[in-house]
Amino acid sequence: MTRSFAIKSFGCQMNVYDAERMSEALQAEGMTESGGESGEAADVLILNTCHIREKAAEKLYHEIGRISARAREAGHKPVIAVTGCVAQAEGAEIIRRAGAVDLVVGPQAYHRLPRLLAEQAAGAKALVDLDMPALPKFDTLPARRRRGPSAFLTVQEGCDKFCAFCVVPYTRGAEASRGLDAIVEEARQLVDGGAREITLLGQNVNAWADGNKGFGQLVEAIAALPGVERIRYTTSHPRDVTEAMIRAHADIPQLMPYLHLPVQSGSDRVLAAMNRKHDRAFYFGLIDRFRAMRPDLAITSDFIVGFPGETEEDFADTLSLVEQVGYAQAFSFKYSPRLGTPAAERDDQIDEDVKSERLHRLQALLQEQSLAFNRRSVGQSCDILIERRGRQPGQWIGKSPWLQSVVVTDPTLSVGDLVRAELVSAGPNSLEGRLLTMKTAA
Ligand code: 5AD
Ligand code: SF4
Repeated sequence: MTRSFAIKSFGCQMNVYDAERMSEALQAEGMTESGGESGEAADVLILNTCHIREKAAEKLYHEIGRISARAREAGHKPVIAVTGCVAQAEGAEIIRRAGAVDLVVGPQAYHRLPRLLAEQAAGAKALVDLDMPALPKFDTLPARRRRGPSAFLTVQEGCDKFCAFCVVPYTRGAEASRGLDAIVEEARQLVDGGAREITLLGQNVNAWADGNKGFGQLVEAIAALPGVERIRYTTSHPRDVTEAMIRAHADIPQLMPYLHLPVQSGSDRVLAAMNRKHDRAFYFGLIDRFRAMRPDLAITSDFIVGFPGETEEDFADTLSLVEQVGYAQAFSFKYSPRLGTPAAERDDQIDEDVKSERLHRLQALLQEQSLAFNRRSVGQSCDILIERRGRQPGQWIGKSPWLQSVVVTDPTLSVGDLVRAELVSAGPNSLEGRLLTMKTAA
């Protein structure tokens, strides 16, 4: 009998990508994926975890407890595999604390999941694989399968920046880039499988390099592939921005006018304490250069409030930076100490109440800016890539070039269509579009 599996993935887009590739690897072994509600009843349950913020390990143990209780009720014990960044950070400790877990596999070792599951089925117990080099897995994973119109493609992994708050350099390892040819080949497979938009992923995606080729040339190579209509990328580090990358926004029509460039804080004092390797003026300088190349660029960022030692004055600097840049969207978080990172050791941690209050003020400002950004789009016509059905009959949801969610109502559309629409109204999280013409059908 074929074994079934389900993957529950948490966290960033890189985890979404990893989950897709794990799924493909298991399907290549003849296993079947059971999604949604039926996931609970699968023979193998994979928890693809995220370690970036807030008590990730506690949440994982809670989730395992819940799954085990349900399994006992149903009289069915699934094989439980923990993958992702909590697996890398906690290792065998997971099996010691949660006896229901059978396998712990780090983010650089998941290509061996089929073999580990076979060993487990043959009686091996408590298997832990935390092997670190990032790149070998890509050579052994099976070809990409058919996916939706928008596909993720990991081109770079890991981080050498060591921001004082961040676990990524420890869980994902050192910066490593995949080779250009392998990436182009994977993009080709994705396009053959129906993708029209490709989002290049990496913890420091713009640090990508292959010999003397840099990120700008990677974008060029992907754009040269027939069938690639949209290119996006995330996440960029200010220190790795190059002139070629900025130019690409003017020269490559497929490159969408969207830039996620986390700044984390607007205070030079905090940026230095965070070990961000850039200050406020450097960041503003980059924003100006990008905007000179592409004035309509949607700029987004990540922010952390309440980093150890952050004063009210430092926080005011963050608010003033936000005012000066004008963001289309942003993610903002309360600082959360991560074991093993330098900032967690500091004795000037900020009170939870102060963090919450600052987060609240920052989010109010960011929300205002998202709404203003979306309202400025009203009246414009643009291309929308239809990604899924909306809630009402005949409703479809797609993305504008600026990554806004746009609702279009027309019974004749389908997923993967690229349509021309006029943006007619806007809220902070989505817009409404009026269909003008079908550009190209899926
Ligand atoms: N606490 C809060 N936010 C964090 N991030 C990373 N580490 C932490 C932490 N310890 C945020 C940063 C990063 C985003 C992915 O998560 O803003 O850019
Ligand atoms: Fe973490 Fe900083 Fe590296 Fe981003 S650049 S992954 S925040 S250490």
